[in-house]
This record gives sequence, structure tokens and C-alpha cells, in this order.
Amino acid sequence: MKILAIDTSCDETAVAVTEKTQILANVIWSQASLHAQFGGVMPSLAQRQHEERIDFVIKKALKMSGVTMEEIGAIAVTCGPGLAIALGVGIKKAKELAEQYNKRLIAVNHIEGHLLSPLARDQVNWPAMGMVISGGHTELVLIEELGKYKIVAETMDDALGEALDKAARMLGLGYPGGALLEKMARLGNPKAYTLPRPMAGREEQNEFSYSGLKTAFWRMTEEMKKTEISREQIYDLAASFQNRALEHLVRVSKNVLNQMNVKDLLVGGGVAANLVVRRRLRKLGAEMGIKVHFPYNKRLMGDNAAMIGIVGNFKAERGEFSTPSQVDRSAKWRVDEELVIKS
Ligand code: KG4
Ligand code: ZN
Repeated sequence: MKILAIDTSCDETAVAVTEKTQILANVIWSQASLHAQFGGVMPSLAQRQHEERIDFVIKKALKMSGVTMEEIGAIAVTCGPGLAIALGVGIKKAKELAEQYNKRLIAVNHIEGHLLSPLARDQVNWPAMGMVISGGHTELVLIEELGKYKIVAETMDDALGEALDKAARMLGLGYPGGALLEKMARLGNPKAYTLPRPMAGREEQNEFSYSGLKTAFWRMTEEMKKTEISREQIYDLAASFQNRALEHLVRVSKNVLNQMNVKDLLVGGGVAANLVVRRRLRKLGAEMGIKVHFPYNKRLMGDNAAMIGIVGNFKAERGEFSTPSQVDRSAKWRVDEELVIKS
């Protein structure tokens, strides 16, 4: 069955056409450059942009896949988590199309999309561990089987991507700065500056925390800004921050994985594009006899609708369709909970 998938959870207007776990089209229209001037996503601007672009992006995805609306079997749409008014645009459109073309609807959780994004290529045995590292989430999720999830570690404050973005901003690298920070860090010495270890000695709590590291970094950079900061110092600062942030990710993950009997780790979300993250997680996997799976291309790591189509496929196989009244936005929908519409 071919699925038309829509995700407007944040600042990407994303539409994909998928068939089972195969991606026939994966169109992403990013608004990031528009939000950059505000140093973060402006919900009302995001909503307006989604409204203006959604029809075009749907048309383009259908055209690229060579699939007509008549050939689509169901429409999968992200209902949360995300920005409520942005989510609303994709949901409204999905309902309109479902009615117009008499299609069934599938309500999808955005985090489940990130979690299962490596399945676009890889096959995995359950149970497995899932990791979502993005601008909004840092979570380790035990995947007992498809559709059955248990969050086993999450962040108490900032998400990893958010922390990297904030550090990049302190260094004047623009927004979102995670990828730029990685670039700068490549040229620097990760041991040049001593920053605190997040939750040092408390790793067994199975929680992530980046706010202490962020505050320490802010103090350090503010102090240094009193005189001029050189290019080399920026490289070293970027490398030192990234190193500590990723050390924490790996340490907590190792602790959690030690307590679970899994042979696979699936990693999704924008930060999975970071080469140091990939190298360190692969190394951890090799040490622990765990196979580490990443999405097969970058367009599957950041926000996209192909991952929503993949989840849609598994839900369709289980017969988990929704009526239009059961599909609505749920801004804080957790991946281990059922979608509950409060009206
Ligand atoms: O999954 P995503 O596109 O959106 C959310 O659902 O949040 O993730 C965006 C996050 C941003 O924080 C961005 O800075 C980060 O992913 N990111 C990176 C890299 N590319 C994107 N972080 C570190 N290194 C990268 N290469
Ligand atoms: Zn996301």
C-alpha cells in the first residue's frame, strides 16, 4: 500500500510518499532561514509558512514519486509532539484530502518516526533500543516490538541538539548551529578547555542534563568575550563543548544499554548527522556487541515525512487507522502513550 505522509510539527513543511519501508519521494521545505533572525522557531510564522507551502509540497511529492492520489492507500499525519498551531496545518490538510479522495487516516507520533527511521533500509530484531537526538528531544526508548515503547531515559532540561545550538549561538555561529559547531570543533582541541561533566557521578540515574554544561560554557565565553576571541579559541571552545556533551550522551547510553538485553540500537533525529556522534556510538556498539543503525541518508535524520510514512506502514499492517474525529493535534504526545484527543 502506498502512503502519503505529512509532517508539519516544527519548521519543516514535509511530505513523502512511501510504500512499505521504501521511500518513493521525500520532500522537505525548510523554513530555518526565516526563523534564524529570531534565534529560534516562531510558531505563528511557522504556521503561516506551512499554510502557504503545503499544497505545493504535496503536489511535488506526488509528482516526484509518480503516484496519483487515486493510488494512495492511506494518509499518515504527524499529530504530535510539536508546535500545536504548526501541527494543525498538516492535520487539517490530511483530513481534507482524506475526505476528498475517500482515504483512511493514520495518526503518527513524530518521535516514533525518528525512532523507526533506520528501518528505511535496515532490518532489526526486537527488542531493540532506540535513541532520538534532535533539537527538541533526547530520549532512549526501549522498543519491545513495533508499536510498543518504553521511555527509559530522557532529558531533565535541554535536548542535545538544543544545547549544541545554544553553544553555537554563544560563539556567534548562527541558528541552528549544531552542524556549524561540529565543523568548528573538527579544527579544535577538545581538551583545550575544562568544562564540567554533566551529572558527574549520577549517571546511574539514567537521565540526561545539559543545562549545567550550558551555563558553565556561557560563563566561560562571557569572560573570554571581555577581550577578543581568536578563531583558534572558537575552534577549541566548540570542540571542548561538543566533546563534553557527547561524552554524556555515550555514558548514559552505555549505562542504560548495560541494563537491557538488546542487540540493536536505532538512532534517529537531526543530531545523528554529526560524524563524531556516529563514530562514538559505533565504538560503543562494538564494545558492547550491539549493532548500531542510523538512517541511510541525512534527509531521514532531520525532520521529514518519510519516517512518518514508515510508521504509517506498520500501523496500517496492524489495522491502526483513525477516523477524522480521532485525529487531532497533541503537542506533548509521548511516544509511550496512546493518542488521546481532549476536546
Ligand atoms: O530532528 P531535527 O531536524 O528537528 C527536531 O525534531 O528537533 O533536529 C534538529 C537539531 C538541531 O538542534 C540541529 O542543530 C541539530 O539537529 N543538528 C546537528 C547536526 N545537524 C543538525 N547537531 C550536531 N551536528 C550536526 N551535524
Ligand atoms: Zn524531529
